[in-house]
Amino acid sequence: MSDFEMEPLVRNAWYIGAWANELADGPIGREIMNEDVVLFRDGEGKAAALEDRCCHRGVKLSLGSCDKGGLVCGYHGLVFDGKGACIDNPGERLNPSYSVRAYPVVERQNFIWIWTGNPAHADPSLIIDWPFHDDWSCNFGRYDIDANFIFMVDNLMDLTHLGYVHGSTIGGNPEQHNDAELTTTKKENGAHFLRWMLDSVPPPSFKNVGGFTTNIDRWSDFEYIAPSSVLQWGGGIPVGNDARKNRLQSGALSLRQFHHATPKSENQYHYFFSAGLDGLDADSSGGQQFYEDILEAFLEDKLFIESQQIGVERDPSRRLLLREHDRAVAYSRQAIHEMQAAEVQLEAAE
Ligand code: FES
Ligand SMILES: [Fe+2]
Repeated sequence: MSDFEMEPLVRNAWYIGAWANELADGPIGREIMNEDVVLFRDGEGKAAALEDRCCHRGVKLSLGSCDKGGLVCGYHGLVFDGKGACIDNPGERLNPSYSVRAYPVVERQNFIWIWTGNPAHADPSLIIDWPFHDDWSCNFGRYDIDANFIFMVDNLMDLTHLGYVHGSTIGGNPEQHNDAELTTTKKENGAHFLRWMLDSVPPPSFKNVGGFTTNIDRWSDFEYIAPSSVLQWGGGIPVGNDARKNRLQSGALSLRQFHHATPKSENQYHYFFSAGLDGLDADSSGGQQFYEDILEAFLEDKLFIESQQIGVERDPSRRLLLREHDRAVAYSRQAIHEMQAAEVQLEAAE
């Protein structure tokens, strides 16, 4: 374990395997934690995840289809239910020893959560609550990022990059970002910061959707929850409205984003993100434009995050720096180190 290099993966955790709407058209194969996983809906429509390897001849089950009450292998037609049991063995009798490994799965608020560690510890009460997926209209996306999962956290927990990287969309003025008021807190399982850019020029994306004609008081309220989630509440209110006392007043732009890095391996992750604006239909032209800006901004992040990976891989012995603005990054690293240590202890005890 080290302070500023790539972080070891934590197995005993809930990760996003897919967004619920991704399972509409049949099974999907996805590498998660160095394992091949197939996610699908069983005969009752219940989300499930199995090892993506048929126990008959080893082909990927994700090449098959959802039918006959389960997942039908595309090669010779064996059918598996959501628990991995073979429920149809065409032309032959059922054999109870025919089965594939199943992962604990919970579908909630448009997340398909998958537990990659010891199933005995898969406690659904550990799953993060994000009611905005139910209450608001949201967009859901995913990018493949060639980097260690923790670099997503580095990226999101220090927002001084916004003015440099995202100038044409969600960024804003670099100086105003650097001068923002910042309150950072270490949490038991992560880190939190609240950042105010008072009387600041609204960035282009905010202007487009919020219709701002004056400067705004802009906030960024971010929480990292180890190992892989960052919860974002961002927004702005025209200056002079005491925004710090009430962020929910009318005239506010209020944005909720969920960011999550599901490791594929030590140096690749699925970047899952969702975005919703209070009171705005995600399918409206304003909602679509804002989401397109986000898609563009996250591709800009991808460039820098993958560059960080290359820089670190080239010579992992060279330490990186922490600036004052990186306090939340440092607290986040502490939290992931605590989680890794707890997992090592748990495994030693088992
Ligand atoms: S390989 Fe799956 S049924 Fe034969
Ligand atoms: Fe960014």
